[in-house]
Amino acid sequence: MTDHMAPPNPEDQNPTTAQTTQPAQIVQPPQVDQATQIAQWGRAYTSPDITVYYNIKRCIHFAACIRGLPEVFDTNQKPWIQPDKADANKVAEVVRRCPTGALHYILTDGPAEQPELTTIDVRQNGPNFLRGDLTIAAPSDAEPAGTVKETRAALCRCGGSKNKPFCDGTHRTIGFQASGGQKINTY
Ligand code: SF4
Ligand code: FES
Repeated sequence: MTDHMAPPNPEDQNPTTAQTTQPAQIVQPPQVDQATQIAQWGRAYTSPDITVYYNIKRCIHFAACIRGLPEVFDTNQKPWIQPDKADANKVAEVVRRCPTGALHYILTDGPAEQPELTTIDVRQNGPNFLRGDLTIAAPSDAEPAGTVKETRAALCRCGGSKNKPFCDGTHRTIGFQASGGQKINTY
């Protein structure tokens, strides 16, 4: 039987010194449940039955919320989200229409949002809309940062976002042009 020789370490000043080979350490990111993440992601708008969280950095003014429930999402009122003005389940359903993940919710006595089948919707002159059981690796200066568990996200395709990998609407201001499906109607 021959001894197994470990590959030489280029930093080893004395190759004759006996070495203890340590197994490689795989560092896993801390596991944070989605409800905890959501609560850190944006400003909270609370009613007894539901709390809606809004992250302005991920809002590209797609207006699905305003079109879906104008009595709850109204930029002419203060605060602009008033979740007690509609049934909590209806508010949750409209929040799920937000394609960017700028909006999330936690129902007081209801289930968490479940991921849909994974889809990628490439928007003309705009970002990629992703849905599904997503895990996004975001840099430490992004918002949100780190290992992000998501159900919906708009990812930058123009390269100009200041919150990469998330789209922040910069594609509009720089006149980004690229083929894709539907255009984004904004308010
Ligand atoms: S991105 Fe989401 S929160 Fe912003 S306007 Fe569109 S639907 Fe509403
Ligand atoms: S695609 Fe929206 S900022 Fe790049």
